[in-house]
Amino acid sequence: MRLLKFVLTCLFFYLLLKAPGLFLGKPVPSSLIAMYMFFIVITVLLVMTITDDGAEKLFAPIRSLVEDPSKKLIRNVVFVVVPIVCGYAVYDSGEKKAPPTELRAVHPAPPAIVKAYGKTFDLASIGNPFRKAEKEDPAAFKAFVKEGSEVYFKNCFFCHGDKLDGKGHYAHALELRPLPFTGTDTIAQLQESYLFWRILKGGPGLPREGGPSISAMPAWENELTEDEIWKVILFLYDYTGNTPRSWS
Ligand code: HEC
Repeated sequence: MRLLKFVLTCLFFYLLLKAPGLFLGKPVPSSLIAMYMFFIVITVLLVMTITDDGAEKLFAPIRSLVEDPSKKLIRNVVFVVVPIVCGYAVYDSGEKKAPPTELRAVHPAPPAIVKAYGKTFDLASIGNPFRKAEKEDPAAFKAFVKEGSEVYFKNCFFCHGDKLDGKGHYAHALELRPLPFTGTDTIAQLQESYLFWRILKGGPGLPREGGPSISAMPAWENELTEDEIWKVILFLYDYTGNTPRSWS
């Protein structure tokens, strides 16, 4: 009966760890529970096997199950039925984890209009107000790009990477990785107004086909000014040598 006591003790601690989640809605992370349970099981085992006699009694039921000739039937049942049940449970749970049939659109269609800063932006018609300086006043343009780089290195590089390659030091922890801005298949395919919308509204502003995963991209409308967003966009294109897509 020491074996039963052992199981019940471990179960008691397990339920204790589960209780905050069950009753207060504040679950302990399952990885933490696994870690605590590891130490709890070891500690309980240590305490219960501290004397030879105690250890003998704890393992006696297991030993008799394996060795006692009169327990042949139970033994066969345990060693045949338990693996089959476990195997079936694993097989069964695997099936339910099939990938969602719905595909995530990496660049979902933007809304027609976006509201921010007390204004309404018509995404089809707005462009980057600083873009025209590129031809008209290259010195001023350079200064805008530099300001954009400051916005980037204060706010964005943690995730998007100091080389804009999507490999920031937080990136590996995100379920939905930031895409590299370098290369010709992300921002080079997009209009600046699209980036403006994505930076303003972030992951929370994505339409349903942006799912099913959750994007960690923050919404920046309350952190950055309109000008800062347009300038960081200038920087993203300038640094990667890409040109934004335009209607023409
Ligand atoms: C907490 C991490 C994080 C930070 C900080 C962050 N981003 Fe993102 N960003 C993401 C992730 C993850 C994605 C990809 C998922 C998505 O599209 O929402 C993303 C997507 C984007 C996209 C869309 C790219 C595309 O190809 O559709 C743009 C543009 C962008 N970020 C710009 C920025 C800018 C500019 C900043 C700083 C002002 C910034 N991000 C800060 C995580 C972050």
